[in-house]
Amino acid sequence: MDRFVIKGGTRLEGRIRVNGSKNAALPLLAAALLTDQPVTLRGVPNLADIASMLRLLGELGCPKTGESIGSPQTLTVQSRDESACHARYDIVRTMRAGICVLGPLLARRGSARVSMPGGCAIGDRPVDLHLRGLEALGARISLDSGDIVATTPPGGRLRGARIFLGGPFGSTVLGTANVMSAATLARGTTVIESAACEPEIVDLAAMLSAMGARISGAGSPRITIHGVEALTGVDHEVIPDRIEAGTLMCAAAITDGDVVIENCPLDALMAAVDRLHAMGVSVEELHESRGTSDGAGGVDPMRATCRVRRIGAMKPVEITTQPHPGFPTDLQAQFLATLCLSSGNSVVTEKIFPERFLHVAELARMGAQVNRAGATVIVSGVHRLVGAPVMASDLRASAGLVLAGLAATGTTVINRVYHLDRGYEHLDQRLGTLGARIVREDDRAATEERVPVIETKPRESVRSA
Ligand code: EPZ
Repeated sequence: MDRFVIKGGTRLEGRIRVNGSKNAALPLLAAALLTDQPVTLRGVPNLADIASMLRLLGELGCPKTGESIGSPQTLTVQSRDESACHARYDIVRTMRAGICVLGPLLARRGSARVSMPGGCAIGDRPVDLHLRGLEALGARISLDSGDIVATTPPGGRLRGARIFLGGPFGSTVLGTANVMSAATLARGTTVIESAACEPEIVDLAAMLSAMGARISGAGSPRITIHGVEALTGVDHEVIPDRIEAGTLMCAAAITDGDVVIENCPLDALMAAVDRLHAMGVSVEELHESRGTSDGAGGVDPMRATCRVRRIGAMKPVEITTQPHPGFPTDLQAQFLATLCLSSGNSVVTEKIFPERFLHVAELARMGAQVNRAGATVIVSGVHRLVGAPVMASDLRASAGLVLAGLAATGTTVINRVYHLDRGYEHLDQRLGTLGARIVREDDRAATEERVPVIETKPRESVRSA
């Protein structure tokens, strides 16, 4: 397994470009199952989770056609064999987002067998809302040996319905993706109330509409879908990754750096930027028209350029994670790590995944003053963090540890960075272009070299008393 060795203390400076969004690309790829025409996606990040989704689609008779081009990549997938309907456990367990093939398979092929995704490092990951929504569309759903088995009603077509998709923690992003995708081919009209408003849902609705779906309200809590007979292929560009962008903003803030971020979805980051401003971090939009998705030459607020730097001491703030447009849970770990170096006490409350605090104990190993009480952590700012060996646990917790390592004095070794590779493409190399001192090591080789051999003298026999 690889690990990062980070020598902290350098201010990050320079320019960096945000990649395409992992959390947009995954449901977009799954939606290719809704048609037998080619679906081309541009700006797809080269990540472990994307590779897992492509493997899953291949097993479902929807392989990648031709070679991926460039990085971020342009790739095309197309359903060639629509007889397969089983999303196997050994793929879904490694990538929970595999659940988002359920709706498209059911709507297009009339049946689906998808492994129940297990829990993960950030807590339970139920799918009851997904199933409730699909049953409302007429699906017959049962569980069999850990798999969700879903079929369309007799006659083979889902029917439109009015569905409330809210749960105890707000809406569900992938649940909304599943139900919205399935409803595009249902007979009649579907209204999803308490739909997820995340930008990734807006991007999915945009692609589905370009495929011939009739969708309105995406981005609001109420989405209306008028079912159609069939969908065509599409050529679609994935939106930039707002979580990667927010992570890079924190990297500039925690190192007291000065970083220009390109292809930045500022329009999808208002809650995070609000907190950065309160922390005394400047996020200045630079009106460099870098071309827009519509080619108009203006500045697309989803593909902006901004300069991020801290103005003076970092101030403590209160952060509570909420469904979009609230503060994103996927940036909680990164902001908590950054606030470890603020000039006072911050309060971070996690309302989406109350157990999402595996990074807290690791930050404490680096000298952070963090005290957890249930779903809330009090972060008492310290003057400095000290490098230490720490353990990555989930994707965003790992990113928080990288940020802490960048700012810490001394060396931080982050083990199990495969967690990071799921959601950040070559993060070590890309931060390195900004001056970070990060080396990726194979921890098997490194362990042999790095652990000093301590000569142990044979112990003198202990004289019995
Ligand atoms: C998506 O996961 C993201 N993943 C997550 O990002 C993100 O943290 C999450 O949305 C919340 O924003 C992808 O898009 C691939 P949810 P998703 O269903 O859709 C509860 C990352 O780091 N819930 O919106 O699986 C659930 O337990 C990942 O990139 C139910 O109760 O999350 C949670 O408390 C991690 N029943 C809340 O809703 C359900 O049926 C939000 O979950 C579904 C969810």
